[in-house]
Formats: sequence, C-alpha cells, structure tokens
Amino acid sequence: MSASPLSVLSPDTLAADPNWWRQAAVYQIYPRSFYDANADGLGDILGITAKVAYLKELGLDAVWLSPFYPSELADGGYDVADYRNVDPRLGTLADFDEMAAAIHDAGMKLIVDIVPNHSSDQHAWFQEALAAEKGSAARARYIFRDGQGANGELPPSDWGSVFGGPSWTQVPDGQWYLHLFASEQPDFNWDNREIRDDFLKTLRFWSDRGVDGFRIDVAHALTKDLSEPLPSQAQIRELEKLNNGSNPLWDRDEVHEIYAEWRTLFNEYNPPRTAVAEAWVDQSRRARYASTKGLGQAFNFDLLMADFDAKAFASIVTKNLAEADATGASSTWVFSNHDVVRHATRYGLPAVVAEGLDEEGKEQAAKSQDGKAWLLAGGNESELDRELGLRRARAATMFMLALPGSAYLYQGEELGLHEVSEIAPAERQDPAFFRNAGIEVGRDGCRVPLPWTAESTSFGFGDVPAHLPQPEWFAGVAASVQDTDPTSTLNLYRKALELRRELQADEELSWVENTNPEVLHFVRPNGWNVVTNFGATAVELPAGTVVLSSVPLVDGALPAEATAWLV
Ligand code: GLC
Repeated sequence: MSASPLSVLSPDTLAADPNWWRQAAVYQIYPRSFYDANADGLGDILGITAKVAYLKELGLDAVWLSPFYPSELADGGYDVADYRNVDPRLGTLADFDEMAAAIHDAGMKLIVDIVPNHSSDQHAWFQEALAAEKGSAARARYIFRDGQGANGELPPSDWGSVFGGPSWTQVPDGQWYLHLFASEQPDFNWDNREIRDDFLKTLRFWSDRGVDGFRIDVAHALTKDLSEPLPSQAQIRELEKLNNGSNPLWDRDEVHEIYAEWRTLFNEYNPPRTAVAEAWVDQSRRARYASTKGLGQAFNFDLLMADFDAKAFASIVTKNLAEADATGASSTWVFSNHDVVRHATRYGLPAVVAEGLDEEGKEQAAKSQDGKAWLLAGGNESELDRELGLRRARAATMFMLALPGSAYLYQGEELGLHEVSEIAPAERQDPAFFRNAGIEVGRDGCRVPLPWTAESTSFGFGDVPAHLPQPEWFAGVAASVQDTDPTSTLNLYRKALELRRELQADEELSWVENTNPEVLHFVRPNGWNVVTNFGATAVELPAGTVVLSSVPLVDGALPAEATAWLV
C-alpha cells in the first residue's frame, strides 16, 4: 500500500488526489466555541472564515466541523433539527459556501459532521410524529413502542441512556420513544427506507456544496434489533462482551449495508467523498467501518485512552498499523476531541497504580485516569501538574504527528490548553452533567471558547462574554501571546505540521531497537527518525540532525518526557 507524499503535490493536484485523506492532518472545529464574528457569544461560520489564515498558517490539510446545523443545543448541536441548513445563530448557507470556498482556496479540505442515529426532538419529523397517531407512518420514522404494565405506564425496557437516566420517554398518548442519548435526541428507525433516502439526500446536498468528507457520529448505533421480547439491560451487557454483532443496540452487522450504499454515493464524486466513523467498538470489529466498501476510515481512540507509557504506545501503534495494512484504510490518531478531557490535563494528573487490582478495580482506575473523576471532585489544582501535563502532551503530539495515517487535532490543543475545571453547575451545558448529577461532570471543560488575545471581554473570542465562562489563566495562553514566542506550543505545532508535510512519504514505519524500555524509536521512509523518551531521565539521541524537539535538548541529550525528530 502506498500513498503519494502530499509535499510534492501542487494544490491543484491535491484537490483531485483521491488519497488526500490518508495522511492528512485534520483539525476539529467546535463551531460554537471557535470564533464569534457577530457578537452574540456563540462562535459562527463567519468566525471560521475570519480565521482561515490562522488555520492555513498552522499547516493543516483539512478542517472538520462539529455540527453547525439548526439545533436547540440540548447536546451541543448533536441534536440536529434540520440536516440541510445552518443554525441561524451561526449564519446562513451563503456564509457556509463562502467559508468552504475560503478553506478550499487556502488548500485545505472540508469535513462536516453527520448525526444519523438521532435527530433533535425539534426536527419537523419528530414534531409530526408527536402530533400523529400510534402506528402512523410519521411515528414509523422513529422508534415508538407501547409501555409495559397494566396501562403501559412502564417503559418498554429497563435500558439506560448513554447520558444517564432512562432511554425511553413517554409521550402524551401513552407511547414511549427510544433515545440512546438525551430525551431531546429521539433515535431514527433505520429499518424505514424513508430515513435511508433522506440521509442520502443530505450527503448529496453537502457533497454538491463542495464538502470533501464526513465524520459519522455514533456510526455503530444506527441499526437495532428490537424484536420482542426486548432483552434487559443486564442481558445487553453480556451480549456486548461477545463482540459478535449480537448486541441488539450497538455495532450490528446490518449497519454496514447502510454504509455500502453511502460508499456508492461517495464514489460518484471526484475525488470520492471520504468518511470517518466514530464507532466506539472493540478493535476486532473496527475494520468493518474502515472498509473501502463502507465509510473508508474509522477513529482509533486507543492512544487517547492510554496512559503516557512507552509500552502501551508501542503496542497500540503496532496493532493499528497491522490493521490498516489488512483493511487498506490508513490509521487514525487522536488525543483530544470535544468529548474528552484535554490531553494536557489527563497527562498532568497523578498516576493511578493499577497493579494488584482486580479487573473491576483496574477499570475504575482507568476511569479516574481519564480526568473525569478529578473534575468531578472539584478539579483540585494542587493535584494537577500543569507543566508536566503540557510537557507530556507536546511529546505525545510530536510522536503522533510522525505516525503513518491521519492525525486528528482538536481546536485549542495547539495552544496547549488545559481542561477548564472552574465551571459552576449553573453555567454548565452538557446533558451528561444534568442527567447524571454527581456521577458525570460532562464535557464543557474542553468546549470553552478559545482565547485569541490576552485582553478584551472574551479573550478575543468576540465582543461579548462567551457562552461558556473562560478562566483568567486564558490570558497567558492566548494565540496572540503564543504567536510571537518561538518556544510556544502554537509554534511547536506550526513547525511540526510544516515538517510533517515535508518529511511524509509512504505509510511505512520501522521500530529501531534500543535497550531503554522507556524510549521508543522509529524510522519513517527518507530517514525521518522519531525518538520519544517516556522516562524521567535524559537519554542520548542516535546520530542525525535534530530538526525539532518538544523541549530544548540539554547538552545534546533528549530530556525526560520529550520527543525529537531527526533526519
Ligand atoms: C458522539 C458525539 C458526542 C454526542 C453523541 C451523541 O459521541 O461525539 O458529542 O454527544 O455522539 O450525538
């Protein structure tokens, strides 16, 4: 398997290159928190257009937009009320076209988020379903059932939603509808041809507008086996462990029939439209989503879930590259997104020693390691080593940017941002927080609007206070402050992305033996050597010219918790 090196392609060739995505650096924008051009406290489409020069200077190949569609924001826009429009608070379709043109003119691709498992309860179809009768065609677009109990007063099953609370909500005539997420996110009935056709229409709508690719939200949830009697939550948990497609709600084999149809549509375009699945499935089942006959690529969240640890990183890379070889897709790498605690913070929290714990204990330990437990307990600053977290994040990012495959970056990580822990309950927005009081802190801390400048009402995000409160420490990490500091994280990302383009060639990686178990060393074609020191003491570097390091070298040696690139 070989892919063309992006660096030797002119922008025109790149535009038509069907392999542009294979080793792309993709930047995720959470539009409502990126840049507010119209002074309403919410980021918008014109705000993205205004920052295209910043994105280009960062050195990206593509931009992925989280949902910008009309939405009541019950789940940050992942509750879509109209799939073929722009939220009026964020702009218009004309603004979208202008933004897409600006992104393309800057030599970047545009990916948008598609949310096919559920709509918003404000979607015209769901409103129609509510007004319609039991058994009607309008109700058949969603998943309505009669309840249990003498008068149907109990939900059809005991299933819990991902955000906590029950996954069934009752409507005035007594029926219940299914929502795997918040109650404002009713699940579509994908057995209904009308739903399938409507999503084909949506994919065509955006593809015709020049969108280059799609990120598919909870791609593993669409098809369900709802034959009666419905199993209990406990039975589903057991089926889930089997990882064989027998779970009635998630990762069913039939879902790939939908993606095969989508693939036919994608391939009608030149270059073919791309797609990446967000599918939290076992590694053994991920390849189905990444198949060239389906979506073509799937997120691999393995590095995101791992500790900063040489052995863990090495085994994840080896496994995923082997899988990429077998499927023909390129691998994907990601440390941060809008759903998880930022990696600079995760890496700065005290390590949990899991040795000696039973399986359940280990699972608990892993959970507290993801930063959520720390946030939930109030985000005690004395437990967070900000400097160490950022130092490791910089090293990890340089490790990841050198891997074959595409790298997905999340807005603000180029500023080395930490999670914002200081958000009062009254200011939180995430349904996970409200549906799970005391158990789940939610995801608002990584969605706080970006600091562009050290001063002004909202650190340059806009002219009025931002929709989520920004902390004082944003002043020190604002983009404008980092722009002129050669040692800043922003400039490290810029330099790394520039070199990545220059050095990137075929999707090959070979490990280089070394005797220190805390050091990983690999080499890419053209002699691009990458050394990461996960340990606490400095190590000697191999022969070669160091072109970039995540922290300055000390007497030619690579300090603790750092990465160097050599040629
Ligand atoms: C995905 C999104 C997440 C959203 C959920 C429901 O996991 O990344 O933000 O809440 O789907 O749409």
